[in-house]
Amino acid sequence: MTDLVILTGAGISAESGLATFRGEGGLWEDVDLHALCSAEGLAAQPYKVHAFYDARRAQLREVAPNPAHAALAQLQKRWTREARGTFTLATMNGDDLHERAGSRNVLHLHGTLFAALCAECGNRVGWEGELPVREDCPACDAPALRPDVVLFGETPRHRQALEALAARADIFIAIGTSASVHPAARLIGLARANGAVTIEVNPAPTGTADILHVLEGPASEEVPRLVRDLLAGAHAVPF
Ligand code: APR
Repeated sequence: MTDLVILTGAGISAESGLATFRGEGGLWEDVDLHALCSAEGLAAQPYKVHAFYDARRAQLREVAPNPAHAALAQLQKRWTREARGTFTLATMNGDDLHERAGSRNVLHLHGTLFAALCAECGNRVGWEGELPVREDCPACDAPALRPDVVLFGETPRHRQALEALAARADIFIAIGTSASVHPAARLIGLARANGAVTIEVNPAPTGTADILHVLEGPASEEVPRLVRDLLAGAHAVPF
């Protein structure tokens, strides 16, 4: 049995037309992070923050999954159907491109753009279109719905579960992440410390010490190839 953990970042959706966060043309280049992407910012300027995420949610309707998303969905199907081991797909992305490509049970560490969260009762509800400020929660009626994203200063989701999975992984693959944001970046080290084969897919390798193998290229090219190799190599890693 080979337990597989995959972590994706903004780079996997870059070829679908969604900007990454850092680097040239990155989203953070012209966004006041504190004002628009922090818990304090949401409290201080809810209209601006809602508008920022409304725009990102609207963009989701203009883009589609790319071959990297599709290949991971295929890998999940095969890995599970053939009982090759556990399969975990975690993402820092708020987009729904993994789900639209057919992936199931995707762990969104930083929340999602396609749902709203009640700040009062914690209920989550699927959301399309604009999210008005102080929209009523369908579960508790409190006027407390907010974007379902993890803002700076808030706790990422699935942290303990993912750290346990990473620490048991045989193969850990990081796709399209600068590995600069914790706790996600810590997962690579946890997996390596457990003896996992750690693989990075990135056209600009991060130089992360705990990465054993780098596939230096765009996800839409490298991921389908890696998936083919993984499926062909059974439990062997193709290196
Ligand atoms: N294929 C694969 N990787 C790519 C591609 C591509 N076509 N294009 C760019 N990349 C790589 C970049 O080289 C970079 O290393 O994707 C990475 C994107 O890095 P970031 O923009 O830092 O995104 P990410 O690592 O996902 O950021 C993590 O930071 O700001 C927070 O909440 C935000 O979830 C986000 C988190």
